Amino acid sequence: MQTAANMTIPATLIPGDGIGPEIVEATLQVLDALEAPFAWERRQAGVAAIDAEGDPLPESTLDSIRTTGLALKGPLTTPVGGGFRSVNVRLREAFQLYANVRPARTLIPGRYEDIDLVLMRENVGGFYVAHDYYIPVGDDPRAVAVSTGINTREDCRRIARFAFEYAVRHGRRKVTVVHKANILKALTGIFLEAAREVAAEYAGRVEMDDRIVDACAMQLVLDPWQFDVLLCTNLFGDILSDQIAGLVGGLGLAPGANIGDKAAIFEAVHGSAPDIAGQGVANPVSLMLSAGLMLDHVGRQDLGDRLRRAIAATLNEDQVRTRDLKGSATTHEFTAAVVRRLA
Ligand code: NAI
Repeated sequence: MQTAANMTIPATLIPGDGIGPEIVEATLQVLDALEAPFAWERRQAGVAAIDAEGDPLPESTLDSIRTTGLALKGPLTTPVGGGFRSVNVRLREAFQLYANVRPARTLIPGRYEDIDLVLMRENVGGFYVAHDYYIPVGDDPRAVAVSTGINTREDCRRIARFAFEYAVRHGRRKVTVVHKANILKALTGIFLEAAREVAAEYAGRVEMDDRIVDACAMQLVLDPWQFDVLLCTNLFGDILSDQIAGLVGGLGLAPGANIGDKAAIFEAVHGSAPDIAGQGVANPVSLMLSAGLMLDHVGRQDLGDRLRRAIAATLNEDQVRTRDLKGSATTHEFTAAVVRRLA
């Protein structure tokens, strides 16, 4: 999406659960300081929406995203083992947000230097399509657990093409396809096969190689610089994106974008962090960087770059950091420091 510099852009804002409202408010403050062009429609989802409207994904929220095609979202809590189905997964399905883009870049030197990876996760298939159930045997209603994943050739081609197009547009040299085609021969074999077909169209422009997921996980620790763009099935992408977040300092520094043909939802990689919710100590950088991706998406990379520079200067030159990064700043203090950098 491209837009003129002075246009207002309607966008849906979902504060979310746990630390969501705290980091969303922090992000709004830096977007205001940037004079970002978004006109927000505030809507609820998740546990907050059950409390307010009796439904974890109210129709009013879906309607808003249908209209705006653009959302910034705080994390949403999903009950473990039972309860309602993940609203995150439902949103990705509802708007066919098939590409989950999760960059990991070194912002704070010291751990691994010069990391610059982008993970592309297939976002609507695999083991997330909810064929996950128990079979009763005798008096045990949960004697057998079954999960079936689904990957279609069309969906695999779609995410592969997205990854290669992204590589071309962003000057990336290589796409590494991550799979487990030695064991999940059909489910991830089709993913590898489709990626190879698509890669052939980009021969000479973008390299392709592949890794079995377990080997990839180890190599990401030993030598992450050998990778550039990682193209993953849904579950492997979920796991490896937390791993690459760890390479650059943790979940407090990991942004994400869920992109489809008709809508895009921007959110941090992390969840609602119930262990620190309400304490005012959450790191808002992941969501701020997600807002940066949102600015890039609407053609305002100038503002996205300013935001990224202000965050880097706050962390490194001002040495203002939240607790997860071994600092002592509260969410509010960190946000105020970024706003000062933007002044
Ligand atoms: P989590 O990502 O919420 O937390 C894992 C650990 O990282 C916790 O110790 C937490 O305090 C810390 N952490 C996460 N974000 C942080 C931040 N911004 N600043 C400082 N520390 C931070 O993962 P967890 O605990 O497994 O999940 C909690 C809930 O979030 C679950 O209901 C889960 O389903 C949901 N979730 C939602 C996601 C989304 O909305 N996209 C993504 C991942 C999980």
